[in-house]
Amino acid sequence: MTAWRNEPRATGDGTRATAEPAPAPAPATEAVIRPAARLRGDIRLPGDKSISHRALLLAALAEGESRIEAAGDGADVRSTAGIVRRLGVRAERVCEDGRTVDYLVVSPGADSLDEPDGVLDCGNSGTSLRLTAGMLAGLPMYAVLDGDTSLRRRPVARIIEPLRSMGAVLSARRNDSLPPLTVVGRTPLRAIDVATSVPSAQVKSAILLAGLRADGRTTVRETVATRDHTERMLRARGVPVTRAVAGTSGSPGGVSWSVEGGVPVRAIDERVPGDVSAAAFWLVAATIHPDAELTIHDVGVNPTRRAVIDILRRMGARIEERTTRPDDGIGEPLADLVVTSSRLEAIELGPADVAAAIDEIPVLCLAATQAHGTTLIRGAGELRHKESDRIAGITAGLEALGARVEVEGDDLRITGPRILSGAITESHDDHRLAMTFAVAGLIARGETIVRQPDSASISYPGFFSELERVRA
Ligand code: S3P
Repeated sequence: MTAWRNEPRATGDGTRATAEPAPAPAPATEAVIRPAARLRGDIRLPGDKSISHRALLLAALAEGESRIEAAGDGADVRSTAGIVRRLGVRAERVCEDGRTVDYLVVSPGADSLDEPDGVLDCGNSGTSLRLTAGMLAGLPMYAVLDGDTSLRRRPVARIIEPLRSMGAVLSARRNDSLPPLTVVGRTPLRAIDVATSVPSAQVKSAILLAGLRADGRTTVRETVATRDHTERMLRARGVPVTRAVAGTSGSPGGVSWSVEGGVPVRAIDERVPGDVSAAAFWLVAATIHPDAELTIHDVGVNPTRRAVIDILRRMGARIEERTTRPDDGIGEPLADLVVTSSRLEAIELGPADVAAAIDEIPVLCLAATQAHGTTLIRGAGELRHKESDRIAGITAGLEALGARVEVEGDDLRITGPRILSGAITESHDDHRLAMTFAVAGLIARGETIVRQPDSASISYPGFFSELERVRA
């Protein structure tokens, strides 16, 4: 059972509204999770957060009407919807169910967007900030992007440098390292050929979006492959995007993506798949619980996003996959997943695994506490630059619950299996930590307290009600 101290944030009520609904009541300060006797049920996920952001931004660039079905309705996607509205785009919420929302977007097209008359509020969302900066770099306007205290600690030099080399003028606080971020766009931009400084789909996407407005072919090279939603979604909207594999078989060198500038983005209708990063919490919950069977419907299983499924399988997780839409390289493949209680073994994860499962590493650390042996996660430094310092946060929370976690530089060693005992865990207002500790509470003895649980609604509105439902 989950008990709330203070009111949980309200979820959607099926009403029709144009702008985002009024702010919710005061957030809960803590949730109390008690162990579950069993886990059973069918789960429908919020729409994929990464794809929802991109669908809104690309709809803003495309002249005409775009329908986005089943977008994620978390606070981050709402931030992006708010941003496109400030650019003079109509983004109407036509239907909602508390988890997902359908948008009808009507845009005058990239060349007729309004210069925003105030700060663009990205809230907690790094994706909103970095992708919008890339999109605005090629538009002749002045814009300031800002967000909450967590966002103001997140690095922006990684996008400032490539976008500047394309001719846009950007600046940021603390010697161009932290938001607020100012973008003065230029049309056309200079096409570039650049390697990303960190494995980051946000950086890659910012450059590709700027490349749409460049005077030729823009190429982004990445040594470690990251999620390719932007590339697929551009192709689906009529923009040619090419992929090349770099290096030789003896020395693999990653992958490069190129986009031709000057090709307009076409308005299309798209249905957003279920968010595999949200599915990760249920995959781990069912795997580590001794009496569990959960069916998760319509999960996006794009090869560049599905790492959490494959990593859990490498650990011994019993996950059955029923394909409901195969991969055609343009749309997003889908599957239903059936996951049952499993015996897990420790494994080793390297930097490529970390990049591929960047948002799922916290909950995979929880899985590792129940695996036999020592799980080693190497090269996880990028986790320090997320909504919170996730290496510090996951280590403190899991140790409070009785897990054995050692941190050495950017590497984590987790030794299991350990019996977890309820304790106070701090989410640091980070959605992925809040949900990880709530899942831990399903198997921990006694009461687990999750501080600032409401942050879950950043990516997963309704998460705690779903937790109640599957344990019932
Ligand atoms: C995202 C990419 C990842 C991820 C974030 C969403 C995206 O960030 O952590 O939640 O939608 O492109 P980085 O690519 O910067 O690691």
